[in-house]
Amino acid sequence: WIVWICGRKRRKGEPPLITGWLPFIGVTLDYVSNPLGFLRETQKKYGNVFTCTIAGKYFTFVTDPFSFSTVMRQSKNLDFQKFAVGFSHRVFGHADFSASLFSESYREVHSIFRQTLQGLSLHQLTETMLGNLQMVLERGLPYEHDWLEEGLQSFTNRIMFEAGFLTLFGKDEGFLQANGMSGTKICMQKAVRDFLAFDRSFPVLAAGVPIGLCAEAWKAREALAEELLHDKLHHRKCISDLIQRRMDAFDRMHLDETGKARTHVCMLWASQANTLPAAFWSLYYTLRSVDAFTAACTEVNKVLSGQLINNQDQTIGLSREQLDSMTVLESIIEETLRLSSASIMIRVASNDFTLTLDSGQTADVRKGDYIALYPQLIHLDPEIYPDPTEFKYNRFLDEKGQRKSNFFKNERRLKHFLMPFGSGASECPGRFFAVNEIKQFLALTLWHYDLQLSDPDATLVPDGTRAGLGILPPSRDVFLRYRRKTNTTTE
Ligand code: HEM
Repeated sequence: WIVWICGRKRRKGEPPLITGWLPFIGVTLDYVSNPLGFLRETQKKYGNVFTCTIAGKYFTFVTDPFSFSTVMRQSKNLDFQKFAVGFSHRVFGHADFSASLFSESYREVHSIFRQTLQGLSLHQLTETMLGNLQMVLERGLPYEHDWLEEGLQSFTNRIMFEAGFLTLFGKDEGFLQANGMSGTKICMQKAVRDFLAFDRSFPVLAAGVPIGLCAEAWKAREALAEELLHDKLHHRKCISDLIQRRMDAFDRMHLDETGKARTHVCMLWASQANTLPAAFWSLYYTLRSVDAFTAACTEVNKVLSGQLINNQDQTIGLSREQLDSMTVLESIIEETLRLSSASIMIRVASNDFTLTLDSGQTADVRKGDYIALYPQLIHLDPEIYPDPTEFKYNRFLDEKGQRKSNFFKNERRLKHFLMPFGSGASECPGRFFAVNEIKQFLALTLWHYDLQLSDPDATLVPDGTRAGLGILPPSRDVFLRYRRKTNTTTE
């Protein structure tokens, strides 16, 4: 109680302690209103490591990018799963896996991510996504040559959500036969609406508000879970290995049926919540910059022109080599992620220990405290990226048009210069798939459509209220004009 009321005292060897004026609340308001600004200011005043009181917890921020590897290597003293699993249990309402964190069955569930989202499985998944993207695009692609108008965000969400959903969870062909394309479309529109309604409440849920108090989010999450009950999933065809193996593992763990379905909502959220805004910004920036647009179209035309379409289903095939060769699209995506990502990486100290930074400076950390890295400090550092707030489509290309990976600070080459997917043990296992699917989305929309922003001069800012949660969505939608191109028939 005394510590709670008076706040804790900094011990010798510990980093500077910034507690603000109010017990418990500490610097929460300053941090939440502008995390990047607050961290930059505090770094200026106190150096590369400092501890802040935020919502009653102690967060030690390490801001020097050369010390990120040091933090990542501390797996003995720093735990990432405890925080992530506890958070997921609270928000998604599935079983509390933190009790079984070190059990064989939980380890198996966790290892499924890497086994099914990378390596050979990645190619299968990417290929399925390409087919689904084309199916969704084809369905919404009128043949008449009139321009259509739709919000760019609504356009992106509609296409990417459905294609991504079908790729992971497969197709319900029985429902399609009974209800036709229009029935399936209505069902998918409802799923997108539920997903976005749940996702809108995410900042509040992340701040600790119980989902029971967010009626809309609760309703939307349960509606999604209803669609992902094993009973229903068993009727779907072409389920991804990822979901099939998770279903099998949860069945073996004897979770209750709603609990299993909620873990699938969690997976759905992980696969879409960042991908949708990243796809939005990638297309937005491409359309806003004449240079980016020209370079992207040239690359897409080079790869897709004259390509043989698959005879049976009339779809375009894009091999792994072709996808990898699209370095302009890759640079556009990386530049987009640099500008729009605002995630925070959090570890929990499982022991009292001493952290030695790259400079040799040491910082004592107490058991139970959080260690936090905020990659946006790197992404928007003018020394690493000149004109950091400007979109430069070729920032991640070298003189030969290949991927550039040498970025410097204090004349030293950085290992961690772009971290939208986190790093170390908790690095996003879906990162390769995410880049592939956004590349496919860009390639197909640029190939099939004439696209224009209705108001190209309007400026758009990211929604800062989601800082810390990944890719920031736009604060509002912008109108897109599009029509089918006449010359996209491949032979
Ligand atoms: C975790 C970013 C797309 C699956 C994460 C983390 C980040 C992230 C920052 C947490 C890393 C940490 O705490 O250090 C992104 C971004 C994406 C994206 C920016 C798109 C642009 C995807 C996709 C999938 C996916 C498409 C799956 C199909 C996951 C999973 C985790 C995760 C399962 C949890 C990993 C674990 O607990 O070990 N992602 N992600 N992500 N992501 Fe992604």
